[in-house]
Amino acid sequence: MSKVEGFSKWSKLEKIEFLARHLEQKNLQAPGKFSHLMQSFWHSNGDAQKIFDEFSENTITNFYFPYGVVPNFLLNGKSYCVPMVIEESSVVAACSKSAKYWSERGGFHATVVDTEKIGQVHFYWAGNPQKLEDFFKTKREELLQFVTPLTSNMRTRGGGINSLSLIDKTSEEPGLYQLFVSFETCDAMGANFINSILEALSQRWKEMVMDAPEFVGSEKELMVIMSILSNYTPNCRVHVQVQCPIGQLDDGHLGMAPQEFAFKFSKAIKIAELDVYRATTHNKGVFNGIDAVVLATGNDFRAVEACGHAYAAQSGRYRSLTHCSISDDTFTFWLDIPMALGTVGGLTGLHPLARVSLDLLNRPSASELMQVAASVGLAQNFAALRSLTTTGIQRGHMRMHLMNILNHLEANDDERHLAKEYFVDKVVSFKSVRDLLSSIRNYQ
Ligand code: MEV
Repeated sequence: MSKVEGFSKWSKLEKIEFLARHLEQKNLQAPGKFSHLMQSFWHSNGDAQKIFDEFSENTITNFYFPYGVVPNFLLNGKSYCVPMVIEESSVVAACSKSAKYWSERGGFHATVVDTEKIGQVHFYWAGNPQKLEDFFKTKREELLQFVTPLTSNMRTRGGGINSLSLIDKTSEEPGLYQLFVSFETCDAMGANFINSILEALSQRWKEMVMDAPEFVGSEKELMVIMSILSNYTPNCRVHVQVQCPIGQLDDGHLGMAPQEFAFKFSKAIKIAELDVYRATTHNKGVFNGIDAVVLATGNDFRAVEACGHAYAAQSGRYRSLTHCSISDDTFTFWLDIPMALGTVGGLTGLHPLARVSLDLLNRPSASELMQVAASVGLAQNFAALRSLTTTGIQRGHMRMHLMNILNHLEANDDERHLAKEYFVDKVVSFKSVRDLLSSIRNYQ
């Protein structure tokens, strides 16, 4: 593509026309097709489209993802209709199946362990670490006072700064320190709140050091490298579990005794605790559920993923996020996972469908949403492990996959019907579906 100047300042149509010309020159799109396609995905309501355009930069159209729901999701004795945004076939179906299965066995039970968020000011200072520590102790309160105007709103809601400490990292890197700040951000994810406070703190801290009479020469120079929240929030964590007597695991479709199922299931978890290749896939399945809820509610799934994977590696080895025990004839399956979610602020209030998602969930607090998302993650993992340790994953997957292939090959209703019947007991592959469709089409 030729170099382009000032692209961001062009109108949406100018951007589309520019890209269309490029695609047409390369014979990648027929004349007029790209422009038509892009505009066909614009929202019919101009005001609504403006909202989407302003979420990001250089927006030319919208990228649709399916928005599904899982009704009858029993969590802490309450029935939820859970919204999920995900493109992967089978995820919503698997979650629904798991939700139904566990609703008949007492449902999901979740608790929020804590909701602590973290921020850091990373800086370099050349001097005696003890001298800095002593100085920090005398200035700590003044620093906190300095940011009270920024925290007052949050404090009226019950949040604010929980603690502020100086961390000496000089044993790992000469001259390196950080201000380590713990926050409570109530129902907000809190990124803007935290980052604003950190930047104010870092500036004041630098000035304090510069103005301190006890520091001389190079001791007056403190170099702030950056001030930023941490997406690793191990104490903003939720615990969720399901439990039942082993005999009750049998729903008539396991294809094996419930004891054997429980044994195989627990070994599947063991393998994900021991083997990083399996643990990654295992946890990916957990995030199939969590991400879908996080996206549907306008939260930051990259932050949630990054935090979850870091937590999975907290022992020094990347492990399964879910665990299982079999004792006294009881099967217990649980997930401990940190995640920083919000139900106010950010996209949660701006994206019209994120607002609808929160309405569907009966306007939950951030803590309640954490419990819902974690429970869906556990439900998803249960469904995956159940399939993997009984029928194998492909049976369920391929049914949905067949639909995708049929769509891709533009099958009509009759062809779909014939294909569904044909593949009831056969392996689905792109080639086998294409072959079937050609034989149907040739025959007609
Ligand atoms: C597919 O998206 C997720 C699974 O691979 C998860 C797992 O293997 O546990 C089915």
